[in-house]
Amino acid sequence: MGWYEATGEPGGRHPGWPATLGPLRVPAGLVAVRPIRMFDGSAWSRIRLRDLDHLQPWEPTGYGSWAERHGLLSWPGHYWALRSMARRGIALPFAITLDGRFCGQLSISNIVRGALQSAWVGYWVASDVTGGGVATAAVALGADHCFGAGGLHRLEATVRPENTASRRVLEKLGFRQEGMHVRYLSIAGSWRDHLGYALTVEDEPTGLVTRLVHTGLAERV
Ligand code: ACO
Repeated sequence: MGWYEATGEPGGRHPGWPATLGPLRVPAGLVAVRPIRMFDGSAWSRIRLRDLDHLQPWEPTGYGSWAERHGLLSWPGHYWALRSMARRGIALPFAITLDGRFCGQLSISNIVRGALQSAWVGYWVASDVTGGGVATAAVALGADHCFGAGGLHRLEATVRPENTASRRVLEKLGFRQEGMHVRYLSIAGSWRDHLGYALTVEDEPTGLVTRLVHTGLAERV
C-alpha cells in the first residue's frame, strides 16, 4: 500500500486506522508512529511523571493532581478511552517511537467527516529527546497519513503563543497561522489564548515528509 501500511476496517468506515508510519531518520534517531498499545503504560507513566514541568504549561487542565493522572494505574482507562475513539472513527491515537522506544504521543482527534473532513493534531515528546526533530517528523508522518489513507482535507492545531518550540514544529511543516482564539483552552487551571494554525491537503501536494526530506530535515530509510 505504498510507503506506509494502513489497514482500515472493511468498507472503509474508519479510514486510516490502524496504521504504522515511517521510520524517518532525523538528528535524534529513527522516528516512527504506530497505534498506542496497552504495554506503553510504564514508559508513558515514567515519562509523564518525570516531565511535569516540561508538559503541564501546554496541556489541558485535568481532574486530580498530575501524579494521580499519570500514575501507571491511570493508563488503562486512558488507553481504552482512546482506543474506543479510534474504533468509532473520531480519533487516531498514535504513539511516537524513537529508535523503537515509546517517547511521546501524536493525537489526531475530533475527526469530523461530511463536508468538513477535518481533525485536530496534538503532540508531546519526552524532555530528553527534544530539539532533535522528533515531533516534526512525527507530525509530518501523521499529516501525510491523514491526507492520504485518512481521507481528511484539513488539519488544525492550536498553540499557546509562548510555546515557541511547538510553533516552530508547525511552521517548519508549513502550517499557516490563521487566527487567535481568545481564552480558548483551560491550561493548568487558567483560560489561555491560543494561536490557530491549519493546513489543507492543497498546501503541500507532494506531502510533508517530502518537504522535510527536500529541506534536509529528515531522510527516508
Ligand atoms: N525557543 C526557540 N526555539 C525553540 C525553543 C525555544 N525555547 N525550544 C525549542 N525550539 C525549537 C527547536 O530548536 C526546533 O527548531 P529547529 O529545528 O529550527 O532548531 C523546534 O523548536 C522543535 O522542533 P523538533 O525538534 O522537531 O521538536 P521536538 O521533538 O523538540 O518537540 C515539542 C517539540 C513537541 C513542542 C516538545 O517540546 C514538547 O513535547 N513540549 C511539551 C508539550 C507541548 O508543548 N506539546 C505541543 C502542544 S501544542 C499542540 O499539540 C498543537
